Amino acid sequence: MTSTPQDATLTALGVEAISIPEERYFNGQPFPLTLRPISGASSLADLATNHRDELLQLVEANDCLLLRGFGAAESAIDFSRFATTMRLGDFDAGCSAAPRTNVAPGVFTANEAPPTEPIPFHHEMAQCDDRPDYLFFFCERPAAAKGATPIIPSHAVAAYLKEAFPATSDKLRRLGVRYVRTLPREADPSSPIGKPWTESFNATTRAEAEAAMRAAGTEWTWLEPSGDVRTVTKPMAALVTHEATGREMFFNSIVAAFTGWVDVRNDPAKSVVFGDGSPLEESDREALEAVSRFLDESRVAFAWEAGDVLMIDNHKAMHSREPFTAPRRVLASLWADRKSVV
Ligand code: FE2
Repeated sequence: MTSTPQDATLTALGVEAISIPEERYFNGQPFPLTLRPISGASSLADLATNHRDELLQLVEANDCLLLRGFGAAESAIDFSRFATTMRLGDFDAGCSAAPRTNVAPGVFTANEAPPTEPIPFHHEMAQCDDRPDYLFFFCERPAAAKGATPIIPSHAVAAYLKEAFPATSDKLRRLGVRYVRTLPREADPSSPIGKPWTESFNATTRAEAEAAMRAAGTEWTWLEPSGDVRTVTKPMAALVTHEATGREMFFNSIVAAFTGWVDVRNDPAKSVVFGDGSPLEESDREALEAVSRFLDESRVAFAWEAGDVLMIDNHKAMHSREPFTAPRRVLASLWADRKSVV
């Protein structure tokens, strides 16, 4: 086999690429690229301290990196040290809908949604104006059963949609989407989207909630007598062209909404409309159902090992979460681009 510039980088980093049973190839590249230290020659602390730029280039070139077998990374503190030593921009996760707990500097529990609930594929905070550029996960304790964090390159999803459903792809690109969702007045623990509007908008009165919705460009209707609120977001991009690669990305929360926003207040089939307000047609719904199946069939759901670190370029790869049998502890760390750091 001929050696590549990437091989030379790996040697300089004291790591080697390995195959994991679950990996797949997209555009001729193994996904995720999995690295392990060459006979203890490298540690996570060393990588972050001395090879931060090369490591980030590897993440960007491969969409995701899985670091495995770095024995010293055993706790949330080790992971926090690694993540903060990468010297990336701080990121304010205020807009996130996910419940999380801070456990160490820059490190949070991953979404604490109930173990029985799968979390559908998404880019982290695709629904927010401000999104993290990098997302790191750390497995402190694998689940007793299942509990993977399935991943997929976003360009593969966009390419599938364009190839199989060109009309829907074209409409999504031209018009974008708006998300339609009714939020309850009181918390509804039976619903995956049961967070009350008071909490979602950090408001105690309707006037405060209205101010938050106005600032976000969201339209609303108060429902009586329940006191729930029906919201329609501003038009948001659904397919985004990545600046550096020119590749189209499926960058949105459509599948999550279309397959998961279901409760007594919400019909998932009506949770997404095009950016001009027009509803999805039958053919568009078929396309989104096919995308959802494509995600299930093409994803990489590797079994976590304790100490694994997964580094994701949040502009290029989507992630999700399988249901699991407790206990399981996977931690997350969100960062803005290094360009914002002086
Ligand atoms: Fe996420």
